[in-house]
Amino acid sequence: MALPRTLSVIGAGQMGIGIAFVASLRAKIPIVLLYDHDSSQITRGLEFMDKLLAKDVSKGKISENDAKAAKARITAIASSSASSSSNDETNWARELGERGTDMVVEAASERLSIKEGIFRALARNLSKNAVLASNTSSISITKLAGAAVDGLVTSVSRASEEGKSCAGRVVGVHFFNPVPVMKLCEVIPGLQTSEATLEQAKAFAIACGKEVSTSKDVPGFVSNALLMPFLNEAIMCLESGTATRDDIDKTLRLGMGHPMGPLQLADFIGLDTCLAIQETLYEGTHDSKYRPSILLGRMVDAGWLGKKSGKGFYDY
Ligand code: CAA
Repeated sequence: MALPRTLSVIGAGQMGIGIAFVASLRAKIPIVLLYDHDSSQITRGLEFMDKLLAKDVSKGKISENDAKAAKARITAIASSSASSSSNDETNWARELGERGTDMVVEAASERLSIKEGIFRALARNLSKNAVLASNTSSISITKLAGAAVDGLVTSVSRASEEGKSCAGRVVGVHFFNPVPVMKLCEVIPGLQTSEATLEQAKAFAIACGKEVSTSKDVPGFVSNALLMPFLNEAIMCLESGTATRDDIDKTLRLGMGHPMGPLQLADFIGLDTCLAIQETLYEGTHDSKYRPSILLGRMVDAGWLGKKSGKGFYDY
């Protein structure tokens, strides 16, 4: 299965940076465009990539030339609206189209309105053959495909041949943090995803050095339908005083061999991201087992978002 020649990654947060990194270093995609509306985010991300490459060189995992070539394949571009919600008519998507993007991985914030805006803009501006993939952790791929169809230049019905063909190019490729380290990519077909798109998504993930698992398009897919209730239960244990933060994490680390305790892992993922995923699970199922804990909501209200903000269950 052919790999893309020009891949665009939208969003230079920890996931977008990781995906651009493995796409360039491992899959050797010739042109990797990294888009974000925030130039400081891009600068931080590129500096982090430099550190990862230097570490891999110093450990003898790759040569200096491999590192230089990987960096040279990446072009970072700050756009004024790649992650904003009112982005139907924006220059960034036109630029992705003009540069010949044949696959996109969207890794913007985990908010439906943002992602829908991005998919509308992508469908309007990219080639009719481009694969439109999302790294969403929980949002429906079928819903994003619907937004893509709505974004076509000439409005068509979702059930028409043109609508089906556009929706058929939308797929989920869910990587895990830290992307260069975690060995899995969960691939999610929406209801209309074509077999060819699904195979292209899998081939891309494998080329990035990942094993692939496939999940149906249910809220949270397999990974977060299982992980999020676990993290939430740990937060509820803390909230109810069942055990201290350190004892909750120690129990799972030392008693069950988890690399991180659940509270440390929630901080690592980002408490705002955990809350957004839990809300999608709860709203998508109306099942009380997915109701986010009050403490989690309060911490996000306080701006305590975990590692990325310097404070969460731990101080950083
Ligand atoms: N980016 C890239 N590489 C990283 C990294 C990062 N942010 N953090 C650590 N690494 C690398 C290190 O450089 C090191 O590489 P080498 O082996 O080449 O030296 C390797 O990972 C091990 O790192 P450390 O020795 O510093 O630390 P560690 O052994 O404690 O491992 C960890 C760190 C890999 C993060 C480990 O704690 C772990 O596996 N934690 C669990 C992570 C996890 O569960 N991730 C999934 C979260 S859920 C998700 O992402 C999806 C979602 O939808 C919410």
